[in-house]
Amino acid sequence: MSKKDFPIFTTYPDLVYLDSASTSQKPQEVIDAVTNFYTTKNANVHRGIYALAEEATTAYEEARQTVADFINAKDASEIIFTGNTNESINQVAYGWARKHLQKGDIIVTTEMEHHANIVPWQRLRDEIGIELVYLPIDGEGKLAYKKISDSSFWQTTLGVRPESKKDAGQASMTAIPSLSKIKLITLTHASNVLGTVNSLEEIIPYFREIAPHAKIVVDAAQSVAHLPIDVQKLDVDFLAFSAHKLFGPTGIGVLWGRKELLTQMEPLHVGSHMIESVKKTGSAWTEIPWRFEVGTGKLEGAVGLAAAIKYIQRIGWEKIIQHEQVLTKYALEQLQKVEGVTLYGPKKTENRLGIFSFGIEGVHPHDIAQILDRSHVAVRSGHHCAQPLMEVLGVSATARASVSIYNDKEDIDALIQGLSEVKKILSL
Ligand code: ALA
Repeated sequence: MSKKDFPIFTTYPDLVYLDSASTSQKPQEVIDAVTNFYTTKNANVHRGIYALAEEATTAYEEARQTVADFINAKDASEIIFTGNTNESINQVAYGWARKHLQKGDIIVTTEMEHHANIVPWQRLRDEIGIELVYLPIDGEGKLAYKKISDSSFWQTTLGVRPESKKDAGQASMTAIPSLSKIKLITLTHASNVLGTVNSLEEIIPYFREIAPHAKIVVDAAQSVAHLPIDVQKLDVDFLAFSAHKLFGPTGIGVLWGRKELLTQMEPLHVGSHMIESVKKTGSAWTEIPWRFEVGTGKLEGAVGLAAAIKYIQRIGWEKIIQHEQVLTKYALEQLQKVEGVTLYGPKKTENRLGIFSFGIEGVHPHDIAQILDRSHVAVRSGHHCAQPLMEVLGVSATARASVSIYNDKEDIDALIQGLSEVKKILSL
């Protein structure tokens, strides 16, 4: 586990890549797996009966099994290959929620979501008249998830007091809607802005008790390369992530869902190979998961994703977590020492990833990023597709540095040095 595994750092030896929350770099074995697919296995899958086509199909379906094992899905048929996390969430919103929710039902999300986990639900709200409510974050940038059972939260959010087991003693104050109206709760596993990890082991049992009728959707885009995920242990209903943040190729994502829910879900896209039969009068869908994979898929993407998972497994979670915790602690300490820097998100390493959003008073984050780039330090600046969170933080944008397994302390030092340069250039 070092920069040597990632050829981009051989191409650009001076590169200080601190934008892995945006996309990760790719290890040689992922690049090799993709090349190898095209040089030795390329044919379409689930169509041809000749040997090469069968080899391609085997590689594609083995990749599905690798993903299933990686997140401990019960069965490979619960793994749907999509375009990315965003498309996976659209699939749940349009394929499952649109069919099963109705006017007056409530979807709960959070203030720390990426637009990918807000906009599909807003569209659904506007189309079918559900309520969409946002659980707040606290002053440290942690999710105040217990607000879901706090009547004053509901009063200010919906102007009504929800009925709950916990409020049973005050039934006279109860108004509609009741917590049984919460039909879906969707939250990120880790914030792409604050680095906050939502401790699903604690939060999900709480949600299950308070809102037993809700399906739980998890956006694991930011966490999947940094923490092990066991969908059965976590007791979630749907989980989405992208390959490209997990050292895999771009253009392929995953939607995992419980089998019984997938069988009740409509495909987001319809057309070619997702059918069992087509007549002039209508069509019937094929089995899950293929009914959700329209057209020729991301074949080399799936194979590359499987190679990325094997790369992670070879290193082992213990080593990855330990390395990133050390770096996170170091970065938190160093960033807080820089005068004039405001750092957002939790200041301790517990339940936190190495994602550091910050600002310098009087400087636009784009200027920070541009000046850092002069010393080959790559950070993202902007709203990070989390505008509602920006509003809560009271800013329109931040600069954001994010680390991964290939970063080291020297990269953090280069960032800190670069920030001095920013201040010098702007005479701060
Ligand atoms: N979601 C990615 C990010 O946070 C693109 O940068």
